[in-house]
Amino acid sequence: MTLPDQTRKAVSGDIASRLLGWYDIHHRELPWRITPKAFTRGDRPDPYRIWLSEVMLQQTTVEAVKSYFSAFLEKWPDVEALAAAPTEDVMKAWAGLGYYSRARNLKACADLVALRGGRFPDTEAGLRELPGIGAYTAAAVAAIAFDQRAAVVDGNVERVMTRLFSIDTPLSEAKTEIRALVETLVPPSRPGDFAQAMMDLGATICTPRRPRCMLCPLREDCTAILAGDPERFPVRLPKEDKPQRRGAAFVAVRDDGAILLRKRPEKGLLGGMTEVPTTGWTARVDGRTTQDAAPFPADWRPSGRISHVFTHFALELEVFHAQIEGDAPEGHFWSLAHEISGEALPTVMKKVIEAAIPGATKARRP
Ligand code: ADE
Repeated sequence: MTLPDQTRKAVSGDIASRLLGWYDIHHRELPWRITPKAFTRGDRPDPYRIWLSEVMLQQTTVEAVKSYFSAFLEKWPDVEALAAAPTEDVMKAWAGLGYYSRARNLKACADLVALRGGRFPDTEAGLRELPGIGAYTAAAVAAIAFDQRAAVVDGNVERVMTRLFSIDTPLSEAKTEIRALVETLVPPSRPGDFAQAMMDLGATICTPRRPRCMLCPLREDCTAILAGDPERFPVRLPKEDKPQRRGAAFVAVRDDGAILLRKRPEKGLLGGMTEVPTTGWTARVDGRTTQDAAPFPADWRPSGRISHVFTHFALELEVFHAQIEGDAPEGHFWSLAHEISGEALPTVMKKVIEAAIPGATKARRP
């Protein structure tokens, strides 16, 4: 359907004002946010908090992010504090959030911003130049922290838009079309609240399954409701099965409960994170998954099997444990029982250690 420019503008304006009216009442309270009321009073969000939350929220749910966000703010209340922190400590605080290159880039970005006087650039183009800030994050920070008119498109927004306009191009091919449509909707006033309102609508009303259309402020605008089947959108191409990889992991424990760890290479998957010794993770069904593959001889006993799904493959690890004594072999170190919860262990490694020694990754200093 093509609408004359004037009509299109009026319709877009209506959509934005209906959505903002709904957001004023139904916005989620999130630790990095300021309320619409505070915004109207003239308060502005802290760009550091907005940037930190948006980097954490890439590929991660709001619920999972909340506690990490609070822990980061407590340790590093501003960008200068984060820049002054050792990278090791940042990786440790990030452990469990996944996609670890985000943490490395976060630190690189903090270093650069601190070096330039501690102020984040206030435009999408300026933000794009910083480490770890792609199109989505630049738009989100520009809109939310600096109230710039930017089209912020995440998974929630994609769902809202494909339903609103019944876009039946498969989602992976519809990105440009969706972005262009969002650009037509972003209002000149309160673009940051508009972006957050779209996200909240997607998260609380326009949900993937059983959307609550009766409560939607855009129900009169939504073409998917008219056709009676909003859940049909977004259209997705069939998912390809993830390849399965296998390997073995070895939890060596000392008498006092210390666990033998090592650091992964800086580059590549889980780069710079901490792990127990493991074999390579191979796609071969006859790959090395028995105690014969251990990095050094010991009385290795089986402790079950764990699985973990990464973006590009699924992994199954046979877990073995053994009691050993003495100095750590070259390239390894002993982590004392009360230090293990603070190590930069990715979730897959926490699963491995828990399989061998239940509770070991949760113990804290007495
Ligand atoms: N997901 C990503 N960014 C978000 C934000 N600022 N508010 C709510 N959900 C989000």
